[in-house]
Amino acid sequence: MKTEYIEIRDCAAQAADIRRAADTIRRGGLVVFPTETVYGLGGNATDAEAATRIYAAKGRPSDNPLIIHIASPEEAERYTVTNATYYRLAAAFMPGPLTVILPARDTVPERTRGSLPTVAVRCPSHPVAQALIRAAGVPIAAPSANLSGSPSPTTARHAADDMMGRVDMILDGGDCDFGLESTIVKPEEDGSVTLLRPGRITPDMLRAAVGDVHVAPAVTDRLREGEVALSPGMKYRHYAPQAPVFLLDGSCTDAVAWIRERGRSHVAVLAYRDDMPALQAALPAATCYDFGARADTAQQAHLLFSLLREADKEGYEEIYAPLPPTDGVGLALYNRMIRAAAYQIIRLRR
Ligand code: TXA
Ligand code: MG
Repeated sequence: MKTEYIEIRDCAAQAADIRRAADTIRRGGLVVFPTETVYGLGGNATDAEAATRIYAAKGRPSDNPLIIHIASPEEAERYTVTNATYYRLAAAFMPGPLTVILPARDTVPERTRGSLPTVAVRCPSHPVAQALIRAAGVPIAAPSANLSGSPSPTTARHAADDMMGRVDMILDGGDCDFGLESTIVKPEEDGSVTLLRPGRITPDMLRAAVGDVHVAPAVTDRLREGEVALSPGMKYRHYAPQAPVFLLDGSCTDAVAWIRERGRSHVAVLAYRDDMPALQAALPAATCYDFGARADTAQQAHLLFSLLREADKEGYEEIYAPLPPTDGVGLALYNRMIRAAAYQIIRLRR
């Protein structure tokens, strides 16, 4: 398939390009587009055939449901059964990086929602995503625009690396602002919400908007593994680069000692900016990537997937990274990084 790649710098001035992309969606085609979280691989959410094409382009099992993207929170009425909690969340966070699981209406084909009785809805804030959904006049089903198993793309070039030749169009709207996928929540009968995937909208932000928030155990799964958690196998590896990733939980000094003892020659280190000089001096053979300041979890979220992809191109034997904290946006980093590392956490603290 020939893929058309278009830079969108101004939605109003490029209305004709947006129109063409929207027509492609309406006709059942696939369009990669930017959102404030990561790039999405979009198709008509009301068209079962489009869902099939999305699964094929991604190489994803078709029982993994898709998020449907809408231009305004009220549009959820047509596709889901909403509730008071949904509108509380919408008032606080939409448009924005939040996805809400709601009971589905039959306007959403079973294939789009992986045969579940529920559907995930999200109203993205990115101007290109907004313009595309509005012009299409249908909700857009979109998983992250990566091949199944690799990190989500946060730049159009990274999306193109995976999707060139597999989709009709790629809209380049610049680098994604946040860099990790949306927060996913499920409203419960009692008015509380269950957090299924952490993101930019943190548990504290959710609590301020709706009250009780339960973090699903899978968010921090295997947190209490032993000192060295060996890989439980490929089936737990998501968001994963080619090289094995190890998360080092300890001081910079302890990390240096462990990496030296490990003795691999061609390795990369994702390093907090604060630690870069010390790491580079102590490990001259390792390639250090600037992972942002230790306290700047927003910058780390912005860089993570992009750095993993860049590191992947170099064919390192192993990649080392710090174990993130679990508070605030740290929880989203933690959730993605333990998966990228297939739960290989090295406890260096004494
Ligand atoms: O930020 C994002 O959410 C990006 C952009 C493109 O919007 N999309 C994204 O989609 O991350 P995807 O497909 O890569 O991840 C969606 C996750 C999957 O893990 C899927 O299993 C889950 O949402 N999901 C979708 N529908 C669901 C449902 N009805 N119940 C529970 N989980 C659901
Ligand atoms: Mg994904």
